[in-house]
Formats: sequence, C-alpha cells, structure tokens
Amino acid sequence: MSRIYKVVVVGLGKRGLHHAAAFKTNPRFELAGISTRDPARLEKAAAELGHPRTSTDPLALAREVRPDVFCFCTPPAVRRPLIEAGIESRAALIAYEKPMALSMNEAIEIRKAVRAAGVKTVVSHQHRYGQHYQKVAQIIQSGALGRVHTVYGHSVGWMLHLFTHLVDYMRWYNGNAEAEWVMGQAAGRGKLSDNHPSPDHVAGIIHFANGVRGYVESGAGAPDVPEVDYWWRKNRIGAQGTDGHAEVLTGGGWRAVTKTRGAQSGEGCMSYDLDMPPYVEDIARWLDDEASVHPCNGESAYKGFEIAMGVLRSVVARGQVRLPLGPGDPEIEALKKALPDAPVLLSAEANRKEYPTAAS
Ligand SMILES: NC(=O)c1ccc[n+]([C@@H]2O[C@H](COP(=O)([O-])OP(=O)(O)OC[C@H]3O[C@@H](n4cnc5c(N)ncnc54)[C@H](O)[C@@H]3O)[C@@H](O)[C@H]2O)c1
Repeated sequence: MSRIYKVVVVGLGKRGLHHAAAFKTNPRFELAGISTRDPARLEKAAAELGHPRTSTDPLALAREVRPDVFCFCTPPAVRRPLIEAGIESRAALIAYEKPMALSMNEAIEIRKAVRAAGVKTVVSHQHRYGQHYQKVAQIIQSGALGRVHTVYGHSVGWMLHLFTHLVDYMRWYNGNAEAEWVMGQAAGRGKLSDNHPSPDHVAGIIHFANGVRGYVESGAGAPDVPEVDYWWRKNRIGAQGTDGHAEVLTGGGWRAVTKTRGAQSGEGCMSYDLDMPPYVEDIARWLDDEASVHPCNGESAYKGFEIAMGVLRSVVARGQVRLPLGPGDPEIEALKKALPDAPVLLSAEANRKEYPTAAS
C-alpha cells in the first residue's frame, strides 16, 4: 500500500487554501495541520477542511505534527523563517510559493540551508500543468519546430508576480538549458513599494548556453495580449525554431505553425482547480521515488530567480551580467536608488487601473 504523507499548510489566504484543499482531496496526503496568524481565519478554514490540528504558531504546530511536507503560502517578504521552521520540523519536503525570495542573497541562503538539511523543495510554478502549456511543450519536444533558437514570455502583471512564472516555462521550453548572461532595462517606481516589489516595467534578454535567445518582459509597458480578456492572464510564452513556432496564452489556449502540420490551435485556460491536483500528486511521486524529481523543484526555481535578479542587477549596473550570481546588493533596494522618477508609459489603457501612477 502507498504511504500517506502528513502535511502542514501555513498561510491561509488565496493560495494557502488552494494548497490545503488539494492536499486534503488527494488520498496520498493527510492534511494534518494548518496555521495562520489570524485566529478567526484559522477557525473558518479548519471547519472547511475537516478540522485538522490548528495553531497560530507554525513552528509549534510543525513540531507537534512532524509533517512529511511543510507547505507555506505567505507574502513574498515571509520566506526565511518559514524555511527554517520547515527544516526544524524535519519534513522531507518544503513546498512554498513563488517568488522563492526577494533578493539573490536570500535565495542563496535558502538554497544553502535546504541543501545542508537534505530537504527537497518545490516552488509553485504550477501553470505548467495546464493542458495548453503541456501541448506547447509536447510540440517543442517532438522536434516539430526544428532547431529552437528563441524562447519568449511576457505579462502585463508586474515582475514579482509573474516574471518567475514566465522564466520557468521559457526554461522548460528550452530544455532547461543553463543561462550564461542576461541584460535588462526597467522603468517606473509605482510598484517598488508593493508587497510584490517590482519596477513597473522590466525587460530582459537571456543568453542560454545552448545558443538559444530568451526575451522576457513584465509590467505596464509589456505587450498586451488582446486574445485574452482576463487581465492577469494576458501572458504569452512560446518558442520559435527553424521549422515553426508554438505558444501558449495563459488565459487563451495554444497555437502553433509548423512546417509539417501547418497551423494548429487548441483550448486551455489557467485554472487552479485543474493545475493543483497534478502539482501535489507530483509531490507524492517525488517523495516515493528520488528519481521522480518534481518539475517545479527548488533548484529549477533558483535558476529562474537568478535570471530575474540578474536582469535587475543589469538595470542598476548597466551592461551584461554573467551568471551564476553570487551575493550582492539586494536588487530591489538598489533599484530604488537607481530608477529615475519618471512615470511609466503604458502599452495599453487596460493596464492603467493596476498602474495608477503611469503617465497619462
Ligand atoms: N502560483 C500562483 O499561481 C500564485 C498565484 C497567486 C499568488 N501566488 C503567491 O502566493 C503567495 C501568497 O499569495 P496569496 O495570494 O495567497 O496571499 P494572501 O494575502 O491571500 O495570503 C497570505 C497569507 O499569509 C499569511 N501570513 C502573512 N504573513 C505571515 C507570517 N509571517 N506567518 C504566517 N502567515 C503569514 C496571511 O495571514 C495570509 O493568510 C505570494 O508569494 C504570491 O506571489 C502564487
């Protein structure tokens, strides 16, 4: 009989509840404990989730439950203490939300700590489970595009919400090749004080070791995706090769044009309900079998985060930035000093409601 893994989920906002529900529904897991700071929210969630153990103190709960999986879904500023709590709980796997950190220094420290503790990590770039994302990956992996030379991704949502999603899928569409250097530019200070602190608009060039070029862009000035109505899903990620082109729209299916098959397209829309079950199922699979590494493993998230922080270092220092990155000035703080006080220019009027400080 398959082993059942005990789970603690910390942080019960939008994503914490998605995670808790997905673990609760999957017979490979026992949702053994939940924690958040607000007692009323905790009580309400416990009633909805079949009354697992509760505590407002995540570490005390983890010590009591001794989970196999320590999961936390907190705002980006809350990472290190919960990584430490996960390690201390002796969980075999820590599952947490993107972005993995708020600076390269923090990402380096997290990677060092989890490696030293021998704990697996998974970071939630779960859009990849969408049938439309998978279809594009299949087309690329089938060789139908010929030699892939370019991958790209853009979103009108701002950097620390979406950039690591984009880079994660671009890396996937490029066979997870290493990035050798990046170069970036950014504009607009409006979102620097957001809880996902970001320049209002950022664009990056990625040079991958296999010669493939990556173009990535997030924010107020990034291209609109007119095929998609829902603003947060106006993301386009794709690949071009010698024999064709394939792309996914987060909220609008997939399309491809290839030499052998001509034009093709299909449905698909990012859905937490559809993406979370296979995401947690792959957690059980990795715990069962060392070789079944989770597609959203922490090392992959680290590589994507490094690209993101490399782009910001380029904005500050100018020029190309060689990877891998070592410790340095915290990137968002450095950006606060470097970015000019000029309002961002929009790519589409639809972006104005999210970027109220944009130029008119
Ligand atoms: N993967 C995705 O598709 C996706 C989608 C949305 C958000 N996110 C990410 O998920 C994370 C959480 O976002 P959300 O939308 O669920 O936020 P939210 O504001 O809805 O919930 C955050 C939760 O964390 C709790 N919290 C805050 N500080 C805490 C602390 N110090 N200790 C314990 N709990 C604490 C809050 O009380 C709240 O319950 C963010 O990093 C965000 O970027 C990912």
